[in-house]
Amino acid sequence: MTAGAVGIGIVGYGLMGKAHAFGYTAAPVMRRLRHRPSLRIISGRDRERVAAAAESYGVAGWTEDWRELVNRDDVDIVDICTPPGTHAEIAAAAAAAGKAVICEKPLAVSYSQAASAVEAVTRAKVLNAVGFNYRRLPAVSLMKRMVDEGAVGQVRLVRSAWLSDEFVDPAIPFDWRFDRAMGGTTIADLGSHMIDMATWIAGPIVAVSGQSATFVRERSGRPVTVDDASAAMVEFASGARGVVEMARVAVRRPCDFTLEVNGDRGTLAFDYARLNELRFGDGADRVELYGMRRIRAEQQSHPYARDWWPVGQGVGYGSSFVNHLGDLLDRWPDGPWEPDFAQGAAVQAVCDAIELSAAERRWVAVSEITG
Ligand SMILES: NC(=O)c1ccc[n+]([C@@H]2O[C@H](COP(=O)([O-])OP(=O)(O)OC[C@H]3O[C@@H](n4cnc5c(N)ncnc54)[C@H](O)[C@@H]3O)[C@@H](O)[C@H]2O)c1
Repeated sequence: MTAGAVGIGIVGYGLMGKAHAFGYTAAPVMRRLRHRPSLRIISGRDRERVAAAAESYGVAGWTEDWRELVNRDDVDIVDICTPPGTHAEIAAAAAAAGKAVICEKPLAVSYSQAASAVEAVTRAKVLNAVGFNYRRLPAVSLMKRMVDEGAVGQVRLVRSAWLSDEFVDPAIPFDWRFDRAMGGTTIADLGSHMIDMATWIAGPIVAVSGQSATFVRERSGRPVTVDDASAAMVEFASGARGVVEMARVAVRRPCDFTLEVNGDRGTLAFDYARLNELRFGDGADRVELYGMRRIRAEQQSHPYARDWWPVGQGVGYGSSFVNHLGDLLDRWPDGPWEPDFAQGAAVQAVCDAIELSAAERRWVAVSEITG
């Protein structure tokens, strides 16, 4: 089955450290991989917690120093699962050590930082990927495939909203997510996934008009320097138009995102709360069938379906990490990997453009950010 083990080092043991450890562990169970991942080491700043995480995630070793992890001879892939403000520095060090790099989204907290990460992996000629895992949900992959196959015709409109309640309570203490330099923005935290999926499906975004608001301006006596909620109208290079909205102050909305594409011949709509389904409105249907059909995106002909359970059993959030990391391992060591750092930087440029547009209350061309 395996052509050899690939050594993995995971930087960070929090939510994403756990999700990635799960992905590496389940991927060889669910599909035939040419290379079996071997979880060699995990790093984190708290000695007791990182040791406990290593034990429960099934990682052989642990360290309090990510630099030690990056320089280990038995680590082939450095997988970065720390806050966005740390990504560029860790990615550059990993690339300089000759390691392939997988980095959680958003790639960085600014386009210039993201561009420096792209430069580092390009210079070192190492494989690189960004953790836009939602692309690998079977129904989202099916949406992409159907758009490419012409199911909706020419894409005219794309709309996406991501609503969460994680910032609603003003008593939530200050942490890295409220710090612009370490957490980036809500635009990038939630919006980067939407912008990645939208541009994957409909091509590059060239201009944006955004608005932002911070409703809780202080936490634990410290100023909050990120937006609670933002939204933008966007224009695609193709001429298509779109709307994206990202909010972490939507009461009783847990992690709800929707993605819809309207073409000149049909509509495709995805709702994360029903993640095994894709709705399809086909303009060619007999008029008596006017409406949207509900595709169960787990039939054997659908993306990733063969790797999973019999039709009707469904998959969940964790499967997106299994599919993503499985795809990358399948392409080890020659690549190509996608989405890569260049896509991560392109997404970051759109996020920066929305932030600038909101601050200056005007349309911003993405080329103002990228130069
Ligand atoms: N793809 C997804 O579905 C998804 C979901 C949640 C978070 N994320 C992304 O994953 C990344 C991590 O988020 P999380 O929710 O796992 O965070 P977390 O707070 O749960 O864990 C952060 C980890 O990073 C470590 N850390 C914190 N500050 C550090 C620093 N300055 N230097 C080195 N290590 C540091 C912590 O010790 C911890 O191990 C972020 O970029 C976030 O946007 C992605």
